[in-house]
Amino acid sequence: MGKSAVSAALAFQQASLGRRTLLVELGERSFFQEMFQLPKVDYEPTYLKENLDVSIWKSEKCIREYVLHYLPIKKLYQLFFENRVMRTFINAAPAIAELAILGKATSGVRKIGPPMDYDVIVIDCFSTGHFLALLRAPKGFSETIKSGPFGEQTAAITRTMLDESTTAYVLVSTAETLPSVETRELFETLRSEFGLHPLVICNRLLHPPQDAIENEQSSFQKYLKFILERQEKYEKTLRELSPQLVELPLVLDSTGGRDLAHQLSEKLKDQN
Ligand SMILES: Nc1ncnc2c1ncn2[C@@H]1O[C@H](COP(=O)(O)OP(=O)(O)OP(=O)(O)O)[C@@H](O)[C@H]1O
Ligand SMILES: [Mg+2]
Repeated sequence: MGKSAVSAALAFQQASLGRRTLLVELGERSFFQEMFQLPKVDYEPTYLKENLDVSIWKSEKCIREYVLHYLPIKKLYQLFFENRVMRTFINAAPAIAELAILGKATSGVRKIGPPMDYDVIVIDCFSTGHFLALLRAPKGFSETIKSGPFGEQTAAITRTMLDESTTAYVLVSTAETLPSVETRELFETLRSEFGLHPLVICNRLLHPPQDAIENEQSSFQKYLKFILERQEKYEKTLRELSPQLVELPLVLDSTGGRDLAHQLSEKLKDQN
């Protein structure tokens, strides 16, 4: 669908406006390292271009940083988190990882933890399932642990991530059957479960030159016409969902990842 490419384009766009931007990917393996031909992408930010750094937040690193905030004594951390039993527990309770990721993502706004010297953080979430798990994690925690510093932190994380003046959600779709259905479902879940109003981007739109479809004769022209009609149909369903639908073209002439992100960011700028 292009979640990562569009995340990169959003980050390029923010950086070009002069905002200190951090592009973050979640997961264990870096996609941006390859996309941007960087020697390494790690937990500590790597310079990508003016005003823009890139980082990968692996769960374990986030948990470590998050828990150290509560257990400032390193020895205690080692006792709890670097032994096998505790590791098994963490693996069995992935919500801890989700909470730690959100704790880090919101720490700048909440002015807590290690300094986050950025105006904007763009996070590339890798799947719908994981994204929902991320959003649901603090709720689960705050229902279990209501008081004490941990309970207060969790409530503050929830407030920050649901505050649409500081946090924006962007759904990336294409004008095709399954992605548009998935986008509609996610859009509605975000609205009903969290009261959120995500922005929807329709990526990889095909805009062939008019003369390529005129005088429809060849089977290729007929095929192209069919593709365009289908595209129009699903674009319309996405627009019904979100009238401010943002459109991004399928870029056919990019010279690499940076150029693709740059070209898409220019298109984002055109649409504000
Ligand atoms: N608008 C576009 N024009 C041209 N190529 C694109 C566009 N958007 C994405 N791509 C390319 O399509 C491929 C898939 O995109 P991307 O990796 O961003 O998708 P994703 O949703 O992040 O995938 P995954 O689910 O694997 O994380 C990549 O090679 C990317 O460079
Ligand atoms: Mg991706």
